[in-house]
Amino acid sequence: MHLLLIGPPGVGKGTQAARLRQALGVPHLSTGDLLRRHVAEGTPLGAAAAAHMRRGDLVPDGLVTAMALDRILGPSSASGVVLDGFPRTLAQAEALDTALTGHGRRLEAVLHLTAPEQTLLRRLTGRRTCAGCGESYHLDTRKPRTPGRCDTCGQRLVQRGDDTEETARARLAVHAEQSRPLLARYRLAGVLHEVDGSADADDVTRRLLAVLAPHPVR
Ligand code: AP5
Repeated sequence: MHLLLIGPPGVGKGTQAARLRQALGVPHLSTGDLLRRHVAEGTPLGAAAAAHMRRGDLVPDGLVTAMALDRILGPSSASGVVLDGFPRTLAQAEALDTALTGHGRRLEAVLHLTAPEQTLLRRLTGRRTCAGCGESYHLDTRKPRTPGRCDTCGQRLVQRGDDTEETARARLAVHAEQSRPLLARYRLAGVLHEVDGSADADDVTRRLLAVLAPHPVR
């Protein structure tokens, strides 16, 4: 099954995508994670993307689309993928549809997670991420057993550069503007499902799986 998690920064796309990957047995593709890896490794793509990401702006379509489609059309995603953070613009959505159609595939479900802005800001500014394995924590709602250290690999927890309140607000504004035409497109195509992302993470997972239940996993 090819499905897309869409929603504002901090709504829980990454958290839920990891759970759906386990539940459905398909890979999770996060363009944010891929881009952060390019930045950390100092690749030409990372160098071109870094300033946009620091400001909370989108990385230009031309840079992101090729990177994302390469993974989406690769053998590991042949039986499906949970997309997290791509597509984010109409141009990216069109490129994705064309590419999937060309491979006899299609986006079967688009899950739109929502939550109030105050909730999103609390989640973003309190998020801490493992510098080693990337596992995500939160200062209030998902504390590690040892403060500042990852439960899984023991590496130190860091704050993402774009999780300051100022940049988080900029990211929320970009999302509000860019997502409107995307949501309209998927609503018209009959694949859009709205899910309340403000509940406890287990509840959100249950709701997502309930929405997906009528879709056969292939
Ligand atoms: P990206 O990494 O995709 O960031 P984002 O969309 O802003 O989303 P986040 O990762 O911040 O939040 P999330 O919804 O995944 O929430 P999470 O599960 O972590 O993109 C970063 C940047 O890369 C962009 O700004 C852009 O520059 C660039 N980029 C990426 N893709 C691009 C594209 N296609 N085109 C152009 N540019 C692109 O949860 C957040 C926190 O809340 C965590 O601490 C978590 O533990 C906690 N939490 C989650 N769920 C719950 C819950 N239900 N209850 C309580 N706490 C919760």
